Amino acid sequence: MSQVLKFTCNNEVVEVLIDPEVTLLDVLRDKLGVMSPKCGCNHGDCGACTVMVDGVAVKSCIMLAATVEGKNILTVEGLSKGQELHPIQKAFIELGAPQCGHCTPGMVMAAKSFLDKNPNPTYEEVKEALAGNLCRCTGYTKYVDAVMEVAKGTFGNL
Ligand code: FES
Ligand code: FES
Repeated sequence: MSQVLKFTCNNEVVEVLIDPEVTLLDVLRDKLGVMSPKCGCNHGDCGACTVMVDGVAVKSCIMLAATVEGKNILTVEGLSKGQELHPIQKAFIELGAPQCGHCTPGMVMAAKSFLDKNPNPTYEEVKEALAGNLCRCTGYTKYVDAVMEVAKGTFGNL
């Protein structure tokens, strides 16, 4: 039976009619047109669908949408302030981290969730934080380097 789901998505309160078995990823992409979270494996393995739920990075392909009632969802679409990109976005672009870009939104959100909790990480800690996000172009080093530069403040205050 369909149900009404209400939550906050990128600072806007939204209400959608959902079936109980749909995932958060499907609701974001198909109902709300929030296209940054990608469907890679659809099994919780690749991290391409990573978004933040109440400040925590989650894999939205394995999260039932019904569980986010009343919660705050943040995706890449909600990161920039007007035309001003978030420091993580700036770093990824400036340092050439993305190749095809499929994994990039998930990497951004995993990095944000991590840096919010640990703004002064070691290189190893960043590697570990991004370990759940697979890059089929195998460009891991630049992503980790970029997150380290963000932590140093090279691309502005977090
Ligand atoms: S699409 Fe969700 S983890 Fe791969
Ligand atoms: S940049 Fe292509 S999958 Fe990561």
